[in-house]
Amino acid sequence: MSVKSSGQFSSRIGFIMAAAGSAVGVGNIWGFPTQAASHGGGAFLLVYVLLIIVLGYPMLMAELMVGRHGQSNPADAMGKLGSTSKSRNIGKAIGFISIVTATLICTFYSILSGWFISFAAAPIAEVMGQPTIANWMTDFSVSRNLVFTVIFMALVVFVIRQGVQKGIERWSKRLMPFLLLMLIAGAIYILTQAGAMEGVKALLIPDFSRVTDPDVLVGALGQTFFSLSVGTGAMMVYGAYLNQQENIGKLTAYVTLTDTTVAFLAALMVIPAMYVAQHNGVQIFADDGSLLNSDTLVFTVLPALFDSIGGISQYVLAMVFFTLMAIAGLTSAISIVEVPTSYIVEKTTINRNKASLLVSAVITILASVIVFNFDALFGLIITLTTERAQPLIALGIAIFMGWVWHRDGLLSAIAQQDGVDENSFFWRVWPTYVKFICPLLISVIIVQLFFG
Ligand code: PHE
Repeated sequence: MSVKSSGQFSSRIGFIMAAAGSAVGVGNIWGFPTQAASHGGGAFLLVYVLLIIVLGYPMLMAELMVGRHGQSNPADAMGKLGSTSKSRNIGKAIGFISIVTATLICTFYSILSGWFISFAAAPIAEVMGQPTIANWMTDFSVSRNLVFTVIFMALVVFVIRQGVQKGIERWSKRLMPFLLLMLIAGAIYILTQAGAMEGVKALLIPDFSRVTDPDVLVGALGQTFFSLSVGTGAMMVYGAYLNQQENIGKLTAYVTLTDTTVAFLAALMVIPAMYVAQHNGVQIFADDGSLLNSDTLVFTVLPALFDSIGGISQYVLAMVFFTLMAIAGLTSAISIVEVPTSYIVEKTTINRNKASLLVSAVITILASVIVFNFDALFGLIITLTTERAQPLIALGIAIFMGWVWHRDGLLSAIAQQDGVDENSFFWRVWPTYVKFICPLLISVIIVQLFFG
């Protein structure tokens, strides 16, 4: 495929890597194993995979389709679906809320990803005989949190200011295969350790009594939207950089499959690692069988596991694992920062360089406010954005695409894709599915969330 203007992906694989890079992140490697471990292992896995198929996949397609049709930032892309000035304004408002949500997500995301960088750097400090620095890097403190959040955001700016092709696409293409390889190697290594098989059993054998547990359902839905970056405008923006001929049904399938595979692989590494650590004498479960410190699982269990291995390999393992997490965080964060950046570039005369700097500066300042008020704000922002805003925005997108976008417009957007038969079962069912079933499913879960 030929190289187009700087605001387009240059190749299909480039798009897949970038979109998979957005999807695969802290949510997969940290969120999924932690949620699965504390929500009944196999039961959670089962509900999650089901939700990915019935809700995640069709909604991701919807966002990419709306973005590509709009060829612009999420607010204008949503606005373009309306045919009256009132519906256009409502569309713009939904898009705008997604831009604000993306910005807020990036605040806690950069703090988290900063921790991964500091945990990856700590073994190096240790090997170089600097235990005080290593301790500072792994201990929770305002100074550590601030320094590494800034380092992480600087990396994001470094990539994003190079543009869509040279920045986002090129770096995703470099980093994603590396991440996959590291993950597979990590899982294989852990699975050869004594005690690992117990973890595999816990992950794979579902406890069917928990499949209908509302907690499991709500947790799995939050995980589905967060993991596929749905309801934040990130995929709409990437859709806008995709050419009209690409078959969105297929591309979305690749991205969804990659995302789910990575979550599964991560769980296949982290959950057995918990049991290996337990086998080595680290306490993982409380007396009642519940998980100790589920939120800080990867920062406590895994380092304890690496320590118990000893020798130089403990440092190598720790470094590899946390570098992996940091890379996953980086390719996701660039997609999030791109959301407000694209808006500013299109709406003002500010150029891409300055816009990305401005957005990152604002995010860094907001993240610093959270760092200084960690207990009050960190969890709150996560809940507000991922559990409240994301499902509501997704609901708005589904309703808009299904009920407001003129049917002819949607059909012609479908038909212009290469090799697509718009009369096939798949392409006839999907718009109707997004119109009726998606809003219904999301509403049921929202009711659980807000009133359950
Ligand atoms: N999907 C990313 C993850 O799993 C997070 C993300 C959320 C990225 C929203 C972009 C937008 O970590």
